[in-house]
Amino acid sequence: MSSQAEPEQVSPSPLRALVVYESMFGSTQDVAAAVAEGLRAEGVTTELVDVRHAPAAREAVFDLLVVGAPTHAFSLSRPSTRQDAVRQGANPALAGTGMREWIGAMGPREEAHGRAAAAFDTRVTKVRNLPKAASTRASHLLARRGYHLVSRPTPFLVHDVKGPLVAGELDHAVTWAREVAVAARRWHTGDPGAAAS
Ligand SMILES: Cc1cc2nc3c(=O)[nH]c(=O)nc-3n(C[C@H](O)[C@H](O)[C@H](O)COP(=O)(O)O)c2cc1C
Repeated sequence: MSSQAEPEQVSPSPLRALVVYESMFGSTQDVAAAVAEGLRAEGVTTELVDVRHAPAAREAVFDLLVVGAPTHAFSLSRPSTRQDAVRQGANPALAGTGMREWIGAMGPREEAHGRAAAAFDTRVTKVRNLPKAASTRASHLLARRGYHLVSRPTPFLVHDVKGPLVAGELDHAVTWAREVAVAARRWHTGDPGAAAS
């Protein structure tokens, strides 16, 4: 046994994530649950919440924000597109508020100090790299609010407006979330290799 005292092992406190999703037909909700699963698998303390019940970002305690929303008219939903979804059979109770409104209620950039973020969306198109979609808009808005993006905006595909998700997308969501967790942890610990990928 060594007589020298071992250096004290300081284990970093676990990252805390808030996953907020909007979903009219359930697909984005399912992806969000898989994202939460992936974050937890990486040891991230994760709260998963519907945007209708989400706390204001300034009132919540988290280091990493992950937002997910369906692509409506090449962007985040608006009241009119959510009503359109209701006309197609979605629950009217879901039309009241969306991700655009939740991000829009955020405060000044200081609120985002030390906070990483990533955004995903669901969409029907087979064109994976749509130049404009819900996650590109959300990422843009979050960056403007001062969040540090640790991932590119990321799509998950559904077969049709009401779903279902394309096979394999839930596994893809778990994998993506694990990558987001690793990137966020690197950024929080000051690793220069933590740029958005
Ligand atoms: C009003 C409306 C507009 C939509 N616009 C688009 C679109 O521009 N591009 C796209 O790929 N999918 C579009 N979709 C399909 C949605 O992306 C799809 O319904 C969503 O991914 C399902 O997610 P959810 O079950 O979480 O609501 C639209 C759907 C609705 C209802």
